[in-house]
Amino acid sequence: MVAGGTETDRTGDRAPAGRAVLGIETSCDETAAAVLDLDGRILAEAVLSQFADHAPYGGVVPEIAARAHLRYLPAQVAHVMDTAGVAPVDLAGVAATTGPGLIGGLIVGCQFGKGLALGAGKPFLAINHLEAHALTARLPGLTEGGAPFPYLLMLLSGGHSQCIAVRGVGDHVRLGGTVDDAAGEAFDKVAKLLGLGWPGGPALERLAADGDPNAFPLPRPMHRRPGCDFSFSGLKTAVAQIAAAGVSEQRRADLAASFQRAVTDVMADRAAHAMAMMRERHPNARLLVVAGGVAANVAIRTALTRAAEAQGFGMVAPPLRLCSDNAVMVAWAGIERLRLGMSDGMDVAPRPRWPLTELNRPTVPA
Ligand code: KG4
Ligand code: ZN
Repeated sequence: MVAGGTETDRTGDRAPAGRAVLGIETSCDETAAAVLDLDGRILAEAVLSQFADHAPYGGVVPEIAARAHLRYLPAQVAHVMDTAGVAPVDLAGVAATTGPGLIGGLIVGCQFGKGLALGAGKPFLAINHLEAHALTARLPGLTEGGAPFPYLLMLLSGGHSQCIAVRGVGDHVRLGGTVDDAAGEAFDKVAKLLGLGWPGGPALERLAADGDPNAFPLPRPMHRRPGCDFSFSGLKTAVAQIAAAGVSEQRRADLAASFQRAVTDVMADRAAHAMAMMRERHPNARLLVVAGGVAANVAIRTALTRAAEAQGFGMVAPPLRLCSDNAVMVAWAGIERLRLGMSDGMDVAPRPRWPLTELNRPTVPA
């Protein structure tokens, strides 16, 4: 258990307790590193988006991502350690995203983290990327009251759309999620159909600002269905059919606005269902946390805030840099785990698939 900066060494053969945790994130196309002190204060953070490496292909190319992580990560880690004024010997642990994600990138980050931990004689923490997103709201100073468990997380990114009951470290229940595309993926695909660049979400939001959201009667997949699953492929197909027939410049904006409105309506409805499910299981739950790049969308954010208010929930969305992929959340998840006396062995392997239901839990309940 680590409390107030002291660490109990469970193995007995490690270097003395440190004062900071290094986080490493390489699961997709962001090469990120961060150093936090044991109270969760950010000492240094850096995110290198590989946007330029993948843009010519209109999406993330796994092999290019892995090679780019290999190229960027050592300098990125050296940079945050220097900025934080922290040497390996000062670390209390090294936390690296170990899954889920693209296997090449996971191998780079996880093995780099293990090497650093082994060399410095420090604990290694294998972090589940989804748990890192889930625990971000508990970073000190981010949420009024500190986001006590349990709370509801809606993770809306390019790779994930999930509603998760966050009940404790290592204790998360998936209430629902997409049955096809992730929300961000749907934005990206529709943006492509409308001739916008990649990633398409921000460009589509800008175009939608000039359009009429009621111009096209698009479907609202899953709307009012029981549970809180999402589906976006039918909506995307509907847009594709309209776009294929050819649309004028103004109609393009109308189509973007109509698509965004359809997604927003569905999100608000799914959030309402997820909150009802959450309250049924955890009557004291009162917080909806929204994370992932799609949370940057003002219309969606506004709709989710309203949906939360209607259910008597508070809504928080971490600032965008902590909402999209970053290493601060990885280091923080590491700190939460260290505080509970948890760490991982050097035999832990990166996992492209790693459901939240398969996490290590503290032996003493949190
Ligand atoms: O969480 P994130 O930064 O990265 C990963 O998914 O790894 O999410 C990126 C996704 C992309 O699909 C992007 O198009 C979408 O979030 N996104 C948006 C907006 N900003 C980013 N979607 C809708 N509206 C936005 N303003
Ligand atoms: Zn992510």
